[in-house]
Amino acid sequence: MQLDLRTLSIAEKQNYLQHAIAPRPICFASTIDKDGKINLSPFSFFNLFSINPPIVVFSPSRRGRDMTTKHTYNNVLEVPEVVINIVDYDIVQQTSLTSCEFPKEVNEFYKAGFTEQPAVMVRPPMVKESKVKLECKVLEVKSLGELGGSGNLVICEVMLMHIDDSILNEKGMIDQTKLHHVARLGGDWYCKVDESNLFKVEKPNIKLGIGFDALPASIRSSKILSGNDLGLLANVHEMPVIDPSFDDEHLKQIVQYYSVNPEEMEKEIQAYAKKLLNQGKVQAAWQVLLQGE
Ligand SMILES: Cc1cc2nc3c(=O)[nH]c(=O)nc-3n(C[C@H](O)[C@H](O)[C@H](O)COP(=O)(O)O)c2cc1C
Repeated sequence: MQLDLRTLSIAEKQNYLQHAIAPRPICFASTIDKDGKINLSPFSFFNLFSINPPIVVFSPSRRGRDMTTKHTYNNVLEVPEVVINIVDYDIVQQTSLTSCEFPKEVNEFYKAGFTEQPAVMVRPPMVKESKVKLECKVLEVKSLGELGGSGNLVICEVMLMHIDDSILNEKGMIDQTKLHHVARLGGDWYCKVDESNLFKVEKPNIKLGIGFDALPASIRSSKILSGNDLGLLANVHEMPVIDPSFDDEHLKQIVQYYSVNPEEMEKEIQAYAKKLLNQGKVQAAWQVLLQGE
């Protein structure tokens, strides 16, 4: 299917884009107007765009039904300061409650049972229950249009970061396994990050991978090795050569058993290499593939 976005309704565009561009982290923005009225609302059009200077951007859109702007947007134009509270699984239901279209005089901290905690450098309060809080100055607000669904980029510089000790490791860094982020996807879908679904993809910055084009044709055209498998093999820094000291009982068995059927042997060898790759044993997988050639 192909979609020309210009032919879709706002709701359709929102549906396709938000299901596709996901998961999105959630900026739980605390803002204040010039009279001191506080507002708290979640925004998943949010990300980190620069480390130095430290810049995050979120986007309170114009409402689809009547093109009006949201309280958060109006507030940052009046007082260009915001606390961005990071949303984890412990506070996701309360966070969702704050997204109701309460009237402007309603403080969502009270409505959703959150505790106001004074910030150090900016006027809006922090959400005490959030494990990471970013005190930010708003550098610029960029309108992307005047229509329903038009975004407004709120470009923020992070001035001060508060991190709950419970998610730190012994070196004082954030332990990724301890911060159970939630993120927004399409419709009502959310996802939760925890140890059961975290994984690492090694990406050395300095050395270059050999690339798919360097893989032997028999490996590259394999029906058994997947794109991920080939990605792992092609990410080594130099083309591996046969290591005479590599001694693998299972490989020997495959070679012996399938000696009369080279086609089947290749399949078995690739299946074994795949298993090794799944266990993170890239060098062993390479040896199995090379020695089985
Ligand atoms: C998890 C979540 C993410 C949201 N993300 C956005 C967003 O990125 N942009 C937006 O305009 N509204 C978003 N909304 C809806 C706003 O939170 C909602 O319109 C809110 O009432 C705005 O409040 P305000 O008018 O007090 O600023 C989101 C709602 C939820 C629950």
